Amino acid sequence: MSKRILITGGAGFLGSHLCERLLNEGNEVICLDNYFTGAKNNVRHLTDNPRFELMRHDVIDPIKVEVDQIYNLACPASPPHYQYNAIKTIKTSVMGAINCLGLAKRCKARVFQASTSEVYGDPAVHPQPESYWGNVNPIGIR
Ligand SMILES: NC(=O)c1ccc[n+]([C@@H]2O[C@H](COP(=O)([O-])OP(=O)(O)OC[C@H]3O[C@@H](n4cnc5c(N)ncnc54)[C@H](O)[C@@H]3O)[C@@H](O)[C@H]2O)c1
Repeated sequence: MSKRILITGGAGFLGSHLCERLLNEGNEVICLDNYFTGAKNNVRHLTDNPRFELMRHDVIDPIKVEVDQIYNLACPASPPHYQYNAIKTIKTSVMGAINCLGLAKRCKARVFQASTSEVYGDPAVHPQPESYWGNVNPIGIR
């Protein structure tokens, strides 16, 4: 059955492909992005689709939409971008997750939360299996 789906960070690398995939499967997609590292150009080819909606918004602020599913991909992924403004990155990760969870609770929606191998610190194992606890320096740049 067709779902109404929110993709935060939807104009980014992974998000834009996910928008396309979920639209092709017949869903309604709301693509939310502040265009920090993403771009409208990544999803321009989808804007004629009546089931697609583009929303300029920052996940730090509460999100007021009605959806069945949420994919929270909103966070700069590459080191130069997430290190550019560390406090903004923390706000994006923490407040973005809280806002998505709040929205999910209100709408009874399911959430997919993207993460990164950066959570393992400077890993000594490649690739990292789910059982690996990481190699984290708590006072390091990461
Ligand atoms: N690309 C990969 O190989 C990979 C692998 C593992 C995990 N991830 C994770 O997946 C997520 C997406 O990665 P990506 O490669 O698509 O990155 P990306 O930088 O291309 O996309 C992130 C998107 O989030 C948007 N964004 C950033 N801050 C925002 C904010 N405060 N409010 C709204 N939108 C905001 C950006 O503008 C961008 O469009 C990240 O959390 C990343 O760590 C990516």
